[in-house]
Order: sequence, then structure tokens, then C-alpha cells
Amino acid sequence: MPKKSLTDLGDLAGKRVLVRVDFNVPLDKKTGAVKNDRRIKGALPTIQALLKAGASVVAMSHLGRPDKATPEERVHLMMDKVAARLGELLGQPVAKAGSEVVGPSVTAAVATLKPGQVILLENLRFDPREQKNDPAFAAAIAALGDAYVNDAFGTCHNDRDASMVAVPAALKAAGKPRAVGLLVAKELEIIHGLMTGPKQPVLAVMGGAKVSDKIAFINALLQKVDGLLIGGKMAYTFLKSQGIDVGSTRVASEELEAAKPLLGFVGGKITLPVDYLAAKSDDLTATKVFEGDIDAGYEGVDIGPKTLALFSQKIAEAGTVIWNGPVGWFEQPAFSAGTKGIAAAMAASSAVTVVGGGETAEAVEQFGFDSKMTHVSTGGGAFLAYVEGKTFQSLAQIDDQ
Ligand code: 3PG
Repeated sequence: MPKKSLTDLGDLAGKRVLVRVDFNVPLDKKTGAVKNDRRIKGALPTIQALLKAGASVVAMSHLGRPDKATPEERVHLMMDKVAARLGELLGQPVAKAGSEVVGPSVTAAVATLKPGQVILLENLRFDPREQKNDPAFAAAIAALGDAYVNDAFGTCHNDRDASMVAVPAALKAAGKPRAVGLLVAKELEIIHGLMTGPKQPVLAVMGGAKVSDKIAFINALLQKVDGLLIGGKMAYTFLKSQGIDVGSTRVASEELEAAKPLLGFVGGKITLPVDYLAAKSDDLTATKVFEGDIDAGYEGVDIGPKTLALFSQKIAEAGTVIWNGPVGWFEQPAFSAGTKGIAAAMAASSAVTVVGGGETAEAVEQFGFDSKMTHVSTGGGAFLAYVEGKTFQSLAQIDDQ
């Protein structure tokens, strides 16, 4: 059953709409500045549509993981810089509702909102009740709005976050409507289409560090794709399982275990790198391309040029390409050729190209290829979970049309 969207919320003139956005953006470790505002930009169409309809918007998001942050890091997790960036992008001031997430001062600040204005709640995770689906916390947030919109695709897989599940449940109990925003609707449409009727043949490119983190995703992909190209750190797990000496590249024994059930696909659906760039562990400026065994003292940092040519060729022949995980240590310019090359090959292909969020999206944007992709998801974990076929409690809360 299709879910309610913005246009199903009725006349919004003079209404206050609670919008759960995913403004969990990467921050500069030293200054706390917003390093990448893709997720903020992603929510703009929904916020703008609501303002145009005469509503005011109470936006809310988590930022980082405050429970694991040091006191200094926690300061950077306050929403002030995000509110400022949202204001710049909207072209109007966006205030933070207060220094607490909910409470009398926040209720008072929200009550002053006029149609066309936007306010942002403090980092939801500053209140430990957020990640416990706490009903009292949810009721306090729900009381701030006349309607609820979920436009936080990147967080849709989080079943315990009150703002995703308990808050819309509280709105329902109060007889208030709940809808998905434009970003969530677009993400679901594209990723659903990808999993149900993709343009053939379908190719996936995977990278990142751990096979164990992505095993369910890889298994789900293997059911759908004609080929899976593996790069990144996880490639060395597979190479080591094949008896290749990976030099000083660290591969944990649990990773070798995790890869075992997939080894039967290697040489069939799974293609591994045929060469790799490795750097000396004690001097990263000393690099060498290896085929087969890697010398002791060297660790793999990127796919090699032959692999990039092979992967690019396969990308050029595909009807659909799904990419999740950088194929090398792309943050280091000297080790970024593989990741940049994959992005370039996808940008140049006529295939439907979909980039799973997180680091991969950041890489594609950093290299300037984001506008050349069919879709760059704002979801990292959510993208993986959706492809795995998980059902999201957050979306179950949204009213059917
Ligand atoms: C994400 O970046 O994947 C989402 O914002 C969810 O964040 P979390 O992994 O801290 O729950």
C-alpha cells in the first residue's frame, strides 16, 4: 500500500509540521564545521514545499553518537552549525529551538513560529530517551506539531530511535497525520526499482573494510546481480583466502571466516582485483604495484591499474551498476586513483548508476561525479538494510494513502 506523501496531508496553512530529517552530516574533527551538506540539501525540497503550503517547520535530527563522544567532541555535536547551514541553503534564518531537546523553553520557542518559518531542535541524541523509543519523550516531541513527516532516509533503518518510531506513533494516537517526505519517497522508489526491475545486466561494485559488516548485503546482492566486483580492504580477505600472500595487510581471522561461504562465487559472479597498489607500512610514500603475492612490509591501499581497466570494462557493459564502498584509501590522494577511476567509469557509462551513501557518496562528490550518477543515496546503513530486504518500523508508522 503506498504511503501518504506531502500532498496527502491536507491544508497545511497555519499548521506546524514536525519533520524528521537526517542531518547526521560529516563534521571537521578540529573545528566541528559541516564538511559535507549533501544530507541537508537532500531535505530542502520537502522543507520548501511545506513552507510554500503555508506551514511552519519544526525540523529534528540526530548528529553523531554523543554517548560515545568525549566532552570536547560533544560540543561539536550541538546543532548550531547545522541550523546555520540550513538557514544559508534556505535563504532565511533558522534558529535552534533551545539547548535542551524538549522542555518548556523549547515548547515556548516553537509556539512563536509563524507560517513560513523553520526551527531546528537540539541534537535528539543529547536526550538518552531518543534511542530507547521512550513514550514520554516521544509524546513531548509529538506535541510540538500538527503533522509528522519522515524525510530521514539515512535513519529509516533505526527501529529504536523515538523520533523515527515512537514519535509518529504518538502523533497517530493524537489523531494527527504522518507522511513520507520527498527525499524518502524518491529514495524508496529508486532503490525499490533497482531491486525489482533493474536494467540488465546488473553489476555491483563493493569495497570497504569488513566483509563481516556487509555479509547480509553481499548475500542479498548475489541473488540479484550478474557480477560483483570487490575492491577495498575486504578484497585482501578474499585474496588471502585464495592463498595469496597479502604482505603486511591486516586481515582478521573473523574476516576470513565471514568470507568463507562466499568463496564459491569467486571466479564466477565475484571478481577480485588482479593487481593492487601497496605502500610500505613504515613509509607510505614508498609504493609498488603487485600482481599475486604482496611483499612483506607492504600493505594494500588501492586497486591496481589492470584491475581498474578490468572493472571499468565491466562497468561499461552493464545495464545497472550499484556501488557501495570505496575500492581504496581514497582520502589519501596518492591512493585514490582506483576509487576515482570507478566513479569516472560509472559517470561515463550509459547504465543506471546508483551509489550507496556514506563514504562512497562522499568520494563521488569529492571527485565531482555526483551529478553524473542516476542516484546518490543519502543512506549508508539504511541503503544496505533496504537492499537486504529488511522492513523498517519507521515506515510502518507512516499512514497508508
Ligand atoms: C547514518 O549515518 O547511517 C544515519 O544517520 C544513522 O546514524 P547511526 O548509524 O549513528 O544510527
